[in-house]
Amino acid sequence: MRQDHLVAAGQLSRADVERVLDRAAEFDAALESGESLPARYPETVLALCFYEPSTRTKMSFETAMKRLGGDVVDMGSVDASSVKKGESLADTVRVIEGYGDGIVLRHPREGAARMASEFVDVPVVNAGDGAGQHPSQTLLDLYTIREAAGLDDLTIGIVGDLKYGRTVHSLATALTEFDAHMHFVSPDSLRLPRSVRFDLHEAGAQVREHTELDDVLPELDVLYVTRIQRERFPDEDEYQKVAGEFQIDADTLDAASDDLTVMHPLPRVDEIAPEIDDTDYANYFEQAHNGVPVRMALLDLLLSNHE
Ligand code: NCD
Repeated sequence: MRQDHLVAAGQLSRADVERVLDRAAEFDAALESGESLPARYPETVLALCFYEPSTRTKMSFETAMKRLGGDVVDMGSVDASSVKKGESLADTVRVIEGYGDGIVLRHPREGAARMASEFVDVPVVNAGDGAGQHPSQTLLDLYTIREAAGLDDLTIGIVGDLKYGRTVHSLATALTEFDAHMHFVSPDSLRLPRSVRFDLHEAGAQVREHTELDDVLPELDVLYVTRIQRERFPDEDEYQKVAGEFQIDADTLDAASDDLTVMHPLPRVDEIAPEIDDTDYANYFEQAHNGVPVRMALLDLLLSNHE
C-alpha cells in the first residue's frame, strides 16, 4: 500500500486491493484448515477506539489481531471514557498512540480518521467516519464479491441508503478500479451524494441511477443491500418517509438470475426477509465472516510497512 493509514477507499489501487485479497485468501485457507497460525505479531497491541456502536467491525478487528498473535486495548464506550470530559479527538489519539501500535477508529464525524491520522505516527484505520467512508468493509466486500462472482466484468446493484451509507461510498469508489457496471437504486432523497457521483464520473465509472429495483434486477451478478441509516437523519419524519422502502423477499428475487449473490454489510433491519437466508442467493453471513481473514491481511500489511 502506498500509505501507512487506511482512511478512504480512494487510496487503494487495483494492485493494492489484489494484494490484500490474495493475502486474505491465504489466511482464510489457514483458518479453514484449522492449522495453528504462526504468531506473527506477538508484541503488537491494536487500539480500538469506537465512538459509535459496532459489533462486526470491532470484533473482527479484535479477532484478526489476536489470530496474528497480538492483543488489543479497547477505549470502551464513549460514556465511560475521557471523551465525556470534553477531550478532543486529537488529544485522545495522541494519548492512545502511546498504548497501541495501530489505531482502529470509528467516529460520527466525516473526516475524523483522516484528521486523527495527521496527529499520530502509528497506522490509523478508518472503521467508519459518519456518512463518509468505511474502507476496511470495502476490502471484505470485494473479497466476498471475488469469491462469489469474480471482480471482472461485474454488474452490481447497490440498493438502499446511498446518501448516508458509508459502506456504499467506499465500495463504489473501489469498484471504479475494476471497471464494474454499477447500478444505484434508491429513493430520490437518498441518492448518492454529489461528491461521490463527481468522483465516480471523474474516474470514468459506468454508473446508472434508478428508483426501482425491477429495472435492473435481472442483469445483476451482485445485489448489495443496505440499511437506511436512521441515526444520520436530521429529522425522524424524513426517515419515516423512506423506512421500509426496499425490502427484498423471495418474490422480489423471482426476476433475478439464478447466480445472483445477495450481500449486506449488516446489521439488517427489515431490508432482507429471513426467508432468503437459507437460499443460495444469501451471502451476507459469509461476508461478515470474511471480516477476519481480510482484516488479518490488512493489519499484516499496515503493521509490516510500519516496522
Ligand atoms: C455498517 C456501518 O457501520 O457503516 N456496518 C458494518 O460495519 N458492517 C453498515 C450499517 O451500519 O448499516
